[in-house]
Amino acid sequence: MSTDRNPTTRLADGAEIPLLGLGVWQVPDGPECVNAVRWALELGYTHIDTAQAYRNERSVGTALKDSGVDRDKVFVTTKFLPSGDDPVAAIEQSLRRLGLDFVDLYIIHWPQGGPTWAWPGMERARERGYARSIGVSNFSAAELESLAQTAQVMPVVNQVHFNPTAYRRGLLEACRQRDVALEAYSPLGTGRLLSDPTVGAVAARLACSPAQVLLRWCVQRGVPVVAKSTHRDRIDANRQIFDFELSDEDLARLDALDRTGGTTAANEHPWW
Ligand SMILES: NC(=O)c1ccc[n+]([C@@H]2O[C@H](COP(=O)([O-])OP(=O)(O)OC[C@H]3O[C@@H](n4cnc5c(N)ncnc54)[C@H](OP(=O)(O)O)[C@@H]3O)[C@@H](O)[C@H]2O)c1
Repeated sequence: MSTDRNPTTRLADGAEIPLLGLGVWQVPDGPECVNAVRWALELGYTHIDTAQAYRNERSVGTALKDSGVDRDKVFVTTKFLPSGDDPVAAIEQSLRRLGLDFVDLYIIHWPQGGPTWAWPGMERARERGYARSIGVSNFSAAELESLAQTAQVMPVVNQVHFNPTAYRRGLLEACRQRDVALEAYSPLGTGRLLSDPTVGAVAARLACSPAQVLLRWCVQRGVPVVAKSTHRDRIDANRQIFDFELSDEDLARLDALDRTGGTTAANEHPWW
């Protein structure tokens, strides 16, 4: 892992994923999304996480273009919406909306219809150069295991709900055993964890914000994390997590917030 302002971690296929990214779930297509992504890039973010389901790839593309940031300096993820039937056709549409020739990471958004059917299409998308890396999201350890039986190329990422209250140790360990990087989404509990008293106490001790504590909790384990904000000051504050450390005691207090029992499942309530 490098130690500059945008540390990265290496994926099994050799690609480097920045540990912190801006996510744009629930950000409407249009100025709000363009501004959030533009601010993030201005402030030094190098990783943007969108999805076909978010319907804002066009705004992400506009912000990327307007920013003037070199294509090779930013890591862009999009996700295959699995109600469609062809990951290749779907990413061709995504790339048109994003104004890009390729994305850095293309992942199956959730295992609708089972964990294996879409994977050959994801492999084809990679072979055609539409995605540098391919992966999955919301896959349990058992679903990863099923995929491993049929995949020609293993996924390099499993993006899942992961934060101190959803500390899925079993899934983290299963991913590590397969050389799949677990990537954290909803690190702030979609905002709900920001008022947690334990998180607040750790933040007070370190004179930082609850959001910084929660993001730091992920990166201190080498887990890449995507956080969402549409406020410039919060986007800025959220990236300032590489110059302080949670102590072992802080980590233990945060770990104890887990409500999943260290599960190998990706979600308590699959929505598909
Ligand atoms: N693969 C999947 O199925 C999946 C599912 C969920 C999420 N994701 C990805 O993960 C990303 C993050 O997850 P998330 O959107 O659920 O939420 P999150 O990042 O856990 O939390 C975002 C919420 O926290 C607020 N917030 C952010 N920084 C803050 C700060 N410094 N101070 C106070 N409030 C702050 C935001 O409000 P403001 O915007 O008003 O600042 C927003 O309400 C998504 O955007 C998406 O890219 C993926």
